[in-house]
Amino acid sequence: MTAPFNPPSHIQHPQLLAWVRAQAALLEPANIHWCDGSEDEYNALCAQMVQSGTLKRLNPALRPNSYLACSDPSDVARVEDRTYICSLNKEDAGPTNNWMHPDDMRATLNPLFKGAMRGRTMYVVPFSMGPLGSQIAHIGVELSDSPYVAVNMRLMTRMGNAVYDVLGTNGEFVPCIHTVGAPLESGQTDVAWPCNRDTKYIVHYPETREIWSYGSGYGGNALLGKKCLALRIASTMGREQGWLAEHMLILGVTSPQGKKHHIAAAFPSACGKTNFAMLIPPAGFDGWTVTTIGDDIAWIKPAADGKLYAINPEAGYFGVAPGTNEQTNPNCIASLKSDVIFTNVALTDDGDVWWEGLTDTAPAHLIDWQGNDWTPDCGRKAAHPNSRFTVAAANNPALDAQWDNPNGVAIDAFIFGGRRANTVPLVTQARSWVEGVYMAATMGSETTAAAFGAQGVVRRDPFAMLPFMGYNMSDYFAHWLKIGQNLGKNAPQIFCVNWFRKNAQGQFIWPGFGENMRVLAWMLARVENDAQTAQGVEHLFGISPQYADLNWTQSDFSAAQFDQVMSMDKTDWQTELALHDELFELLAHHMPAELIAHKTELKTRVNAL
Ligand code: OXD
Ligand code: MN
Repeated sequence: MTAPFNPPSHIQHPQLLAWVRAQAALLEPANIHWCDGSEDEYNALCAQMVQSGTLKRLNPALRPNSYLACSDPSDVARVEDRTYICSLNKEDAGPTNNWMHPDDMRATLNPLFKGAMRGRTMYVVPFSMGPLGSQIAHIGVELSDSPYVAVNMRLMTRMGNAVYDVLGTNGEFVPCIHTVGAPLESGQTDVAWPCNRDTKYIVHYPETREIWSYGSGYGGNALLGKKCLALRIASTMGREQGWLAEHMLILGVTSPQGKKHHIAAAFPSACGKTNFAMLIPPAGFDGWTVTTIGDDIAWIKPAADGKLYAINPEAGYFGVAPGTNEQTNPNCIASLKSDVIFTNVALTDDGDVWWEGLTDTAPAHLIDWQGNDWTPDCGRKAAHPNSRFTVAAANNPALDAQWDNPNGVAIDAFIFGGRRANTVPLVTQARSWVEGVYMAATMGSETTAAAFGAQGVVRRDPFAMLPFMGYNMSDYFAHWLKIGQNLGKNAPQIFCVNWFRKNAQGQFIWPGFGENMRVLAWMLARVENDAQTAQGVEHLFGISPQYADLNWTQSDFSAAQFDQVMSMDKTDWQTELALHDELFELLAHHMPAELIAHKTELKTRVNAL
């Protein structure tokens, strides 16, 4: 039985209505729920999911208005091998993306989507990526059969009726269709986390700007505003329209003198972007403050004054829980006091949550993320390594006053950082835009639990965008070079960092977290061209500080340790360059000549070491 089609009268957009009607005919949901984005709706959907077993309400005395969801074990991370860029030409997707011709993909997906929402409610979720009505923002409408998606979208985006006001009668929107791929035939009882264990597809059609997601209810696979729209589709828009959609946090740093800078920083998934975006300066940095504009995605556009301005298209954080604690990220812990949806963390006996690293000592008993009894000696993790929290940005005590500014904030510097146990020094400044683009393009990083598959393997992750590029990676490098050329002297400085160097015993050397402020302060002085406070020495890769160039007030990090995190070994770099060669071979089609020339120069410098 097909659901009655009863759109609210305030939706006056014929194309949108026709699209929803057509999709309802394909998906055959039992009901259609037009989300209004209100608090009442949020509470009602959460209560409904408590009833159905998808959510557990946490103890309101300990964690007010908060819930725990535990997913199916087959549905715990982004599925990169099931993610497709279906451009008309294979070359436009490039060698780093899975590709299928749109006609073939539609022929594959149509039978899967036919009747896929049977027995379920289809939620119509209107959302704005970016402040409502901002020139930099874009609108999407997600159809989903997951109420978990609907409530998460309310925390992660500007979701609700106000979006229809911005859309008016003919505004542009990106159509996003999501189903968990588990239709309920009559009489069939539902499970707590419906998904399709066997078949998952995360599909993007860049030319027609459509997103179709099948089979998963988790994170970036299902919250389609995030990776699918704000990175993969938006990167293709940015290429056409002269702007950048980046996997970057955005933070503000204010000095004791009141001078404020804004930094955008790209790190691969689960490499501490949320921690860096919420950093609290250590003792010895009195008067410095760091404020958060975004923790995962930046949309960056050139403005009339010739500078780059960035917005955070999201309105909430979908952060990795394990490792987050009062020492590593106190602002995050404060953000999670109430109004949170946790996914795949462990449940304590008093109805609160726990994950590895939250406290030094684990509770004596927990229910783990798979619903089993857990004790510290059981040999299993209590929380899944990619367990998450979803929380509105408004909960963050360090939220920047400009985070919602529709014009964005002017970017002074870009940082790129991979997770590397060796080879790459703690911090390096690029001597030119091309050198910075080369650093970003050749970035390597050890893989993490954010994506399904092997962990800890070093792979090239250009600009931390490998899983999120909507088009050919070499064309993207060329786009960055062109943006830099157009900016000229207004181009932000580019830095490369590595917080993750390890010693021979496999321990991290650099303390990281708040201590990263020492590196940040050096970078900002370099941006200000303040020769007094920011000396640096040139080496084969760029410019780095010497020990004495950083502020070590109240730190016991020694010069010998500093030498370890800064060291550059000839053999390591020869191995590294061989990996750059492999990347360049893979991306040979359209690889910009400037980057090829830069690699040759770098090779000469390494061989001369
Ligand atoms: C994320 C990711 O969820 O990068 O932000 O995987
Ligand atoms: Mn991310």
